Amino acid sequence: MERDSDTTNGGADRSVHEPVLAAEVVRALGGEEPAALEGWIVDATLGAGGHASRLLAALPNVRLLGLDQDPQILQYALRALAPFERRVRVRRGRLSQLEAILDTLNASRVVGMLFDLGASSLQLDSAVRGFSFQSDGPLDMRMDPERERTAADIVNHWDESDLADLFFYEGGETRSRRIARAIVESRRRAPFQRTLALADLIERTLGAGKLHPATRTFQALRRAVNEEGEELLAGLAAAQRWMVDGGRLAVISFHSGEDAEVKRFFVEGEQRGDWRALTRRPTTATRDEQATNRRSRSALLRVGVRVRRSSSALERRGGLA
Ligand SMILES: C[S@@+](CC[C@H](N)C(=O)[O-])C[C@H]1O[C@@H](n2cnc3c(N)ncnc32)[C@H](O)[C@@H]1O
Repeated sequence: MERDSDTTNGGADRSVHEPVLAAEVVRALGGEEPAALEGWIVDATLGAGGHASRLLAALPNVRLLGLDQDPQILQYALRALAPFERRVRVRRGRLSQLEAILDTLNASRVVGMLFDLGASSLQLDSAVRGFSFQSDGPLDMRMDPERERTAADIVNHWDESDLADLFFYEGGETRSRRIARAIVESRRRAPFQRTLALADLIERTLGAGKLHPATRTFQALRRAVNEEGEELLAGLAAAQRWMVDGGRLAVISFHSGEDAEVKRFFVEGEQRGDWRALTRRPTTATRDEQATNRRSRSALLRVGVRVRRSSSALERRGGLA
């Protein structure tokens, strides 16, 4: 399997990331005639390769480009995709670099794209990556280790009002001002370096609740560190430019703001005649899946079909309506 050289980082299979809405994604990207579908599918958030391996198994004539910004996570994907290696290319990179990567691959026929947004449970559950408010680690949260700014940089250097806005807008935290004030007071004594120091401060400030009181603040910090809003927009722009007529885009979001952005993209695309939305409302996981895969409970899937004015073989075949 062709891959970037800097994806080597060992790592045993100590944990599993169960792909969410996997059957729905395969159905959405495979269309009515999955066995006949030919071209490239781009899994731009490859993670451990759970969706990608299911897509490759169900769609025997497609090739898959798998992209992820996290070199550690790509090790899991390479193992999962080994049985399909002749049909797979794996690249380390961000959604915002996808177009440049597609250029180098000469992938002229992109028939499907998947963005399964946010962090993988392999990242969230690893204390040293600094995403968790339940186990102690450095206050880091970078999915791409080449990024310079960590969560600690934001917590220790942003103005109080900017912190409050971040927690409110990116985390939906309605008590954002109290948290921001407490952070600024506390960091005067000592800067924050560890996840639990921040989580404990938030718990002391807000009191315990059913949901851990640091949940929304940590989500907001993760989104800012990884520029998740900007990355999504870059990914959508890549789908707009690279997808063939009849090609399908599937996006799984875990954040209402993100889902609203995807909805807007398809609505505006329909108004221009560039896209046809296949999901008026986002698809959610079945009760069974929610019972066995916690992460699926907040998953929202939207799917759209690219429409280009001169119709292609894919559309004429009628399999992608
Ligand atoms: C939810 S996981 C994907 C899981 C995957 N679908 C699977 O079945 O194993 C999200 C992955 O996307 C990656 N990711 C998030 N934002 C990204 C971006 N802007 N560019 C590239 N990779 C990104 C993360 O590093 C993480 O591995």
